[in-house]
Formats: sequence, structure tokens, C-alpha cells
Amino acid sequence: MTTDKYAGSPPGPPLIDGFGRRVTYLRLSVTDRCDLRCAYCMSERPEFAPKAGVLSLEELESVARAFIARGVRKIRLTGGEPLARRNVMSLVEGLSQYLANGALDELTLTTNGTQLDRFVEALRHAGVRRINVSLDTLDRAKFAAIARRDAVDRVLAGIDAALKAGLAVKINTVALKDRNLDEIPTLIEWAHERGMELTLIEVMPLGEVGEDRSDQFAPLRDVESALKRRWTLEADDHRTGGPARYVRVKETGGRLGFITPLTANFCDGCNRVRVTCTGELFMCLGRQGRVDLKAALRTGGAPALNEALDLAMARKPLGHEFDAARPGAGAVSRFMSATGG
Ligand code: 5AD
Ligand code: SF4
Repeated sequence: MTTDKYAGSPPGPPLIDGFGRRVTYLRLSVTDRCDLRCAYCMSERPEFAPKAGVLSLEELESVARAFIARGVRKIRLTGGEPLARRNVMSLVEGLSQYLANGALDELTLTTNGTQLDRFVEALRHAGVRRINVSLDTLDRAKFAAIARRDAVDRVLAGIDAALKAGLAVKINTVALKDRNLDEIPTLIEWAHERGMELTLIEVMPLGEVGEDRSDQFAPLRDVESALKRRWTLEADDHRTGGPARYVRVKETGGRLGFITPLTANFCDGCNRVRVTCTGELFMCLGRQGRVDLKAALRTGGAPALNEALDLAMARKPLGHEFDAARPGAGAVSRFMSATGG
């Protein structure tokens, strides 16, 4: 493992796309596999990438290092389920050195929480301070219907363990028509009582999941209107550099986020790119454009990787083409679990 010490200014030129946007945030998927089968994310029998095509943990670290050298300040590990990747902690520990030397501001992850309880101590020790946990319902039967696995108790145990270890936890909840809309106020109260933020997400048409996207999609505009009849939602100018818009719920004192890719385009200030576990760099979640980092890394090493990053910047599109009026519009064929949540 290298210990490059470049706190402050990175050694390489910053990543700036054709629209002048600086890319400082990498979402790195470490596996496309998952122990759940959420109905909006995967089909019942998903086809995962063959193992030979998946980057080793060392290769993932090399990719991360190339981005850090070009000024990426925040890395989120995603999946699939990142904690389902064997030995994932060796990658987390490898990346934690960049936190320690100031080259990274934040190392975090998005998890489904099913195995979280046995990882929290190691994560905290590696410098992880905040995590996102995906949870669409607190109800055991509903969870089993949405995630096609009976695992809500494991997730809740994981969240408790994370809070106990002092990690800040944000809950991500996908708003699902006919599935969890009635429970959203309960989820918000539950999260806020425990000092957690909660962010609601609109379903995006990513991959053929075997259900009609129109039967899943619920516009957050309507969800917000319903919440406003119950509570006072105060404007909150908190920004994370991400697509979420925030309000403060006066009655609970907690923060609530809305990610509305379909009803409001949030692409203008985009600061991020995504790398899959097979080394494909996607410049936009909602587009097909990609650059093959695996080929670059395996044939040309770090210099080729750098060239690939330049090419990606030149090709990063302005935004996606999802459309609330047609919830399947602008659909892309790859699953969220492949691109990284
Ligand atoms: N649309 C919106 N959100 C999705 N997620 C997975 N698939 C989709 C989709 N098609 C969510 C997960 C998790 C986050 C990583 O992405 O529920 O909260
Ligand atoms: Fe797994 Fe997350 Fe997809 Fe659910 S949404 S199947 S937890 S990757």
C-alpha cells in the first residue's frame, strides 16, 4: 500500500467537466451483489457480473487513489450491498489513510444495514463518521414484500449498533406507491426521535425489475403536500453538494430531505461520478455514457487511468432524461445495484 502524503493540493489537475463543473465526489461500487432483492432495484433472479470481471480490492483502491490525486475529496462506497463484499474492510482501511493525511474530507458508505452491527466498530475505527442506511418500512411483512427477504430486524439492529457507536445515520427511503406512502410520517418520526435525518427518494427507471415503473412511482410533490397538512415544514438551506433539498420538521425538530430526480431536475450542480465494481466509470446515473477504467488500469496502469479520467470529463453530460409525466421515460437498462446507489 502506498502512503502518498498530499494533503491540501492534489498532485494532478482537478477534474473539471465540459460544463465547468468540478468533480470532487466519487461513488465507488464495490459489488453488484446484495442479500436483499428490493422490487424497485432488482429482479427476483438478478444476473450478477461474473467474478473475473470484478475489480479486486487492490484495483478498487488504485481507482480511488487516481481520483483522489485529481482532487476528489469525498468517497462513498456503494453496491449492491458494500458490506456483502468479502474483506471490504481492507479497502476501507486502505482508504482511511487518505482521511488521516487530509487528502480526503470524507469516507462513507450506503448500506442496507443487514450486516451493519458487526461492522460498526471497524468502520468507526477507520474514520467513517456518517453512513446512509436504506430502509423503506419498519413493518416486517411490508419489508419482506418490498425487499423480498425477511430482514427488517437485522437492519434495525444494525442501525441501533451504529447509533450506539456514535456514527451519524441518515435513512434513505424510496417512496413507493401503494407500498409505504402511508407509513412515511411514522418513519420520519421514528428517525427524528433517534436523531437521524431521513431522505425520501423518487423511484428511478433503472433496469428491468419485472414491475411497471408507473405502479411504483409516487411523486414526492404529493408526499410533501400530505406531510404539510400534518406538520410545519420549515425551509432549511442545508446543502450537501448533492441532489437533496432539505426542510426542517418543526414538530420533530429533525431534518427531512427530498431527492426528486423525476419531478425536479437536480443536475446543474452535479459534482459526482460513479464507478462500478467492474471498473466502468459512469458520468451520469441516468445515462449510458461510460469509460472503461478496468481496461485502462490493467493495460496501462496509473497514466492510462489518468487519461481515461480526462476522457470522462470531456464526455460528462449535462444531466439525465427522467420524466415524471412518464415514469419509465429516459430509462436506462442497468440496475441501480450495478451503477451504485
Ligand atoms: N430508484 C430510486 N432509488 C433506488 N434505489 C435502488 N434502486 C432505485 C431506483 N430504481 C435506492 C436504494 C437505496 C439507494 C442506494 O438507492 O433504496 O436507498
Ligand atoms: Fe440491495 Fe439496495 Fe438494491 Fe435493495 S436497493 S436490492 S438493498 S442494492
